[in-house]
Amino acid sequence: MRAIFLFILLTCALATLSAQNIAIIPQPVSVQPLKGKFALSSQTAIGYSQDAAKPVADMLATKLNTATGYRLKTQRRGQIQLSLNAQPNSTLGKEGYILDVTPQGVKISANEPAGLFYGMQSLLQLFPAAIESKTAVKKSAWSAPAVRITDYPRFGWRGVMLDVSRHFFSKEDVKRYIDEMALYKYNVFHWHLTDDNGWRIEIKSLPKLTQTGACRVQRYGKWGQFEAPGIDEPATDCGFYTQDDIREIVAYAAERYMTILPEVDVPGHSMAAIASYPELCCTKDTSIRVNPGSTFAEWYDDGTFKMLVDNSLNPSDEGVYTFLGKVFSEIAALFPNPYIHVGGDECYHGYWEKDAGCLALMEKEGLKNSHELQSYFLKRVEKILQANGKKMIGWDEILEGGLAPEASVMSWRGLEGGIEAAKLGHNVVMSPNDYVYIDLLQGDPIVEPDQTSYKRVRLQKTYSFEPVPEGIDPKYILGGQANLWTEKVPTIRQAEYMSFPRAWATADIYWSPKSAKNWPAFISRMEKHMERADFAGRNYARSAFDAIVTASLEEGKLMAQVTTEIDGLDVYYTLNETLPDAYTPRYSQPLEIPEGPVTLKVVTYRNGRPVGKMIALPREELLRRAGQKK
Ligand code: ACM
Repeated sequence: MRAIFLFILLTCALATLSAQNIAIIPQPVSVQPLKGKFALSSQTAIGYSQDAAKPVADMLATKLNTATGYRLKTQRRGQIQLSLNAQPNSTLGKEGYILDVTPQGVKISANEPAGLFYGMQSLLQLFPAAIESKTAVKKSAWSAPAVRITDYPRFGWRGVMLDVSRHFFSKEDVKRYIDEMALYKYNVFHWHLTDDNGWRIEIKSLPKLTQTGACRVQRYGKWGQFEAPGIDEPATDCGFYTQDDIREIVAYAAERYMTILPEVDVPGHSMAAIASYPELCCTKDTSIRVNPGSTFAEWYDDGTFKMLVDNSLNPSDEGVYTFLGKVFSEIAALFPNPYIHVGGDECYHGYWEKDAGCLALMEKEGLKNSHELQSYFLKRVEKILQANGKKMIGWDEILEGGLAPEASVMSWRGLEGGIEAAKLGHNVVMSPNDYVYIDLLQGDPIVEPDQTSYKRVRLQKTYSFEPVPEGIDPKYILGGQANLWTEKVPTIRQAEYMSFPRAWATADIYWSPKSAKNWPAFISRMEKHMERADFAGRNYARSAFDAIVTASLEEGKLMAQVTTEIDGLDVYYTLNETLPDAYTPRYSQPLEIPEGPVTLKVVTYRNGRPVGKMIALPREELLRRAGQKK
């Protein structure tokens, strides 16, 4: 009896131990740790029960072989077996899977190959972090804890957006980004292909879009502070994707069960198109050039703005619809996604309001204001898309002046646009900037690479995001995205730094059950994924480990308060120009900052080891934070 009791106790203890080793992102629906582990060997074979399962089996073999140096083969039967269900399991849907790991073998079953692909990603995350290595790692054992996982996504639209206009990303970089997101079960790559700063897609019937629109004058330094282009200055900073490149990337994404949502941002954000074809805008100003990151707008505190250069297409010009017909028919032929994103955001109407053609059109169509004129434009664009077999999605400004009949809305200025669209019975993708804009600062500006971001979205804020607002029928919420604008993201390494860990948080939000949300548990999984990223050579930010310093003035005294996003960190500080460490004072209550040229320096530790960056805040900066100085 005693022996049985001890055996049960030991089994439970072992299962708990392996549960601690299981750190899957996104968190699966159900994880049941079992006793023992599966050990990979150079003799392991990867089986595929049906031909349709072979591509995933081959991908798994390539990945395992790269890191282990083994030469595992794929064949009909193996110790790791991938099978499509003969009878669909209704719980799993199109993307779900069951992953069984036992000491004898591994079985992944799913209704569709996409489910096998996601099961493979979870399996890989059970192996040691070194499995992410791009070169063979010498290791005595490659094993995965025994477990039964049943898993399927909460949302069918799990997207990430990359802006390739503000900075161009090579074909290889785009593939790398797609790869990194597919690991985390994203299934939509939203490709922001055109904007004021570059037109990045070849349109064969409109060659100037890339001959002129894909090039701008070269500038170095701080985006937004660049000089405007000189009239005759050569435009040497170029980049675009040929249609062959696009087809290659679409196929690459499809192999990873990711669909590409192309965006052509109109009628605003069109300076690159206008630089190529000036007749498309009201002013027909032939001096307009592709913007290199110099300021051309004034933004006001009430959220309105003025474009000092005309960057909007002219909605009263039939030539504009002919132009868009050409653009969208070529785009529709390149991308299998049922949707095309047409932008619709931040369009300045000032030039329309002064244009005789626009005024005449408004009169003729009975349009009461420029919002209705934009709505007229978008309804025409929707018809163009429909004629090409596509559905329209746009940023939430497309609601203004009346939503096009079948349009879906991507809500970015908050949740409100999404709520309004869902109430009207339209589909919605949620990507509110104050939660999931991963271009925004994620830590203290003093120590982040981009100090001038207009807002901050810390990891915990991102993780707190709930895409289905109270009282809204969830059937209208297709899912959500994390969006990376790239004004200040010139390289793929920086794109990774901005994306991770926040895109790990959004992976959980869009895949995992709402009830699985647990911040400390996410942080512990995140840390394991940082280790994996290290092996993969993938960049990420550790900003969530940094201290958060605020300041206030209390009875004339300057006080500094320090908190952390992550529990269990110790903050050490100095006020005497030395570096803080575990032997300098430990922060326990708000600090009074003495008069004089004092700098508060803080650093975070955990279990006696530094985990965050040092943040140094001169008294002046603390006063500014206390609201005393701009
Ligand atoms: C946007 O961020 N302008 C959609």
